[in-house]
Amino acid sequence: MNTDPLAFHSIDHVEFYVSNARQAAHFYRSTLGLVPLAYAGLETGVRDRASWLLGRGHVRFLLTSPLTPDSAPEISRHIERHGDGVKDIALRVSNAQAAYEEAVRRGAKSVQEPTEFEDGHGRFVRASIATYGDTIHSFIEREGYKGTLPGFRNIENPPSAPDTGIAAIDHIVGNVELGHMDEWVGFYRDVMGFSQLTHFTDQAISTDYTALMSKVMQNGSGRIKFPINEPAEGKRKSQIDEYLSFYGGPGVQHIALATKDIVATVDALKTAGIDFLRVPEAYYTELPARVGPIDENVEELAKRGILVDRDDEGYLLQIFSQPMQDRPTLFFEVIRRHGCKGFGVGNFKALFEAIEREQALRGNL
Ligand code: FE2
Repeated sequence: MNTDPLAFHSIDHVEFYVSNARQAAHFYRSTLGLVPLAYAGLETGVRDRASWLLGRGHVRFLLTSPLTPDSAPEISRHIERHGDGVKDIALRVSNAQAAYEEAVRRGAKSVQEPTEFEDGHGRFVRASIATYGDTIHSFIEREGYKGTLPGFRNIENPPSAPDTGIAAIDHIVGNVELGHMDEWVGFYRDVMGFSQLTHFTDQAISTDYTALMSKVMQNGSGRIKFPINEPAEGKRKSQIDEYLSFYGGPGVQHIALATKDIVATVDALKTAGIDFLRVPEAYYTELPARVGPIDENVEELAKRGILVDRDDEGYLLQIFSQPMQDRPTLFFEVIRRHGCKGFGVGNFKALFEAIEREQALRGNL
């Protein structure tokens, strides 16, 4: 048994601050197929905010909005500055008090001291620390807790949601300012006890216009992976710079959702109206030479714009959505791993050229 209080079990949920949680819940239900599971708001005695918990597979999204201009000023300010975005990547621990104390001892900035909830479902404890930008990590202790979240009412007969096959969160990427990547790599190493999995230099990830650097941090079990990006000097404004200016600082750039059948998932998401980035046709002509034999039919992947990359241990399939808001900030990735532990570095160049075409259309290149 691991006695480190910061031995994280899993991502418990991701909380988004959004301007209209009810409508965001409708959007994530009808597009990603996340089923409404629980609700908290005026009807459950909560006066300052409304929250909807949605889920499919192991994925849990919590969508939260303030109820009046002054009811939850911290949430209102977050939305005013960042637009809709990720506030909290909540991590499950055995003991939230111990995790919090150890994190603070190692230098974490406290956001919320351990708070215990005891209801008919059992005992639930939450504490929070700061990470990049205005983003936080809550530590969630819920062993034996039978409810969804304290103060929430279960949604008994949820409206139907498309079966998109989304199963779990594979990784969550943060964008930070130029020169700050190593500071946050240090935070995940020294405070959170993560280790560095990979490092992509600006040489590996550059086009004529854009460049970025990325380091991937993962927890001890390898189940939680957080790549951190920073912009690098390029000829024009990089996609990371575009994110930073529209988000108003560092924050979550994308969430990668794992599926067992990427073709079916992409078809379901496209039918639901999600737009994905397209790479040029030439990408698929060069593909067999670059990645070797794969189980999937390349023509079927090409039809959908699904990308392929390979490392020593296998290959992966991935595709990236357009931003989920009018601001070019958060987007999603759909990923299917066949042994490969990478992040698709072999696709970055083709992909960034695709992103730059979109950036140019927005007048931001
Ligand atoms: Fe990714």
